[in-house]
This record gives sequence, structure tokens and C-alpha cells, in this order.
Amino acid sequence: MNNPTWIEYNNTTTLETALCAEIVAQLEAAITARGFAMLMVSGGKTPIQLFRRLAAQPLLWSKVWLCLADERWVSPTNQDSNEASVRTHLLHGEAAVANFISLYQGSDVKTAPAHLCTILPEELLQNAFDVVILGMGSDGHTASWFPCATNIESVLNTSMPLMAIQPQTAPHARITWTPRVVLKARQIFVHIVGTNKKQVYDRALTHDDCLMMPIRTVLLQQQVPVHTYWSP
Ligand code: 6PG
Repeated sequence: MNNPTWIEYNNTTTLETALCAEIVAQLEAAITARGFAMLMVSGGKTPIQLFRRLAAQPLLWSKVWLCLADERWVSPTNQDSNEASVRTHLLHGEAAVANFISLYQGSDVKTAPAHLCTILPEELLQNAFDVVILGMGSDGHTASWFPCATNIESVLNTSMPLMAIQPQTAPHARITWTPRVVLKARQIFVHIVGTNKKQVYDRALTHDDCLMMPIRTVLLQQQVPVHTYWSP
């Protein structure tokens, strides 16, 4: 394996068309092989147009388990909620029947990881995600693996599937899937846009300190194929 594979496009439209087709192909193959597919998507602004494209795809969405890589600990009615973004941009049209699993439980975020492990469907906890779509922040975080968080080292090294985390440089406490789950995926797509993020990404590839730039946990491993889709 030769991670990560860099795939660039002239603009976001051609990137999203290509990435959408690749994601659908992987989900269709999973449904054919195992009768269901598991898709993990990220929050933030970058994937919104991709979500809208995916929502229009004629796929057996009723066979797809859909979950966020991480969630800000705010109500799904809050504009900062990643769930709100998924419900607005992805869970409609063809994809309206996807099996979305919310990470937000309204309880104390500190007890949420253990609680979720008792209520999440076994499929989600026992099987590998077929497709994981990750973004990246300008500090080199991905999911909610923030380098500024006091517990980032335990988040990156835990055997727990989910952890609570409090970034210092971004609002809201969060819950996040950990590398323990993300690095069991069959395919990871890193989806980034803009020259600033390309500079951050290139910097992430020059050293191996994952605490400084947690996305290195994804980029520098050789167990799961990682394809990075970028456009200006
Ligand atoms: C979140 C995301 C986070 C996001 C990056 C990039 O909850 O914020 O999961 O990891 O992917 O911060 O966000 P943008 O796409 O908005 O730049």
C-alpha cells in the first residue's frame, strides 16, 4: 500500500462528481458483498455539496448505515450541529431512507461514549466502516482529534471506539470516533479544498508527530487505503 494517494481536480465541481461516484461504487460493492454498507461522514462546511450530490444517487440507501465521524455536543436543531448538516443536505431524496445513527444523546458528553456503546446497533460496533470521509482543519485535526485538546494522546491511543473531547480552539465539546474504529475502515477518503489546506496537508506529510497534527494518524498508516481528494 502506498498511502496516501493524492488526487487533485481543477475545481470543487469535478472533485465532488468524481468523489461521489467513487463513494457510491464502494457502497454498492459492500451491499453486494455483505448485504449492507457502512458510511462515516464528517461535519464542517467542505462536504455540504458532496452530501447534496450523494443524496441524489440511486443507491440502495435503505441498506446503508450512516454515521458522523464526530459531533459537536449541541442539539440537532443548533446550526453548529453536524447532524443538522447531514439531515439538511444528505438525508433527503434518494438518501432519505438511509439508516442514520445520531451520536448526540443530550446527556453529559463525558458519559456519552460509554452510553453510546450500550445503545448503538451491533452492526456499527462490530463491523468495519466501508467508507470513511474525513475533513481536515488548518491545525491538522481530523474528526474531532484536536491537537489542542488536553486528552488528545488518549484519544489517539485508546481502545475505546468513542471518546469525548474538548478543543481549545473550536467551539463546543465533542464526541468522536477514535482511530481504533476509523483505522479499521475498508477505505478512507480525505476531502480538502483550498491552497491553505494543501499547505497544511503537505506539512502533515513532512513529520510523524501525530499529537501535533492528528491527521498524520490517518495519512502515515499503511493498513487502510487513503485517497485524498483536493481542489483549489
Ligand atoms: C467538525 C468536523 C471537522 C471538519 C474540519 C474541516 O465537526 O468540524 O468533523 O473534522 O471536517 O474541521 O471543517 P471545514 O470543512 O468546515 O473546513
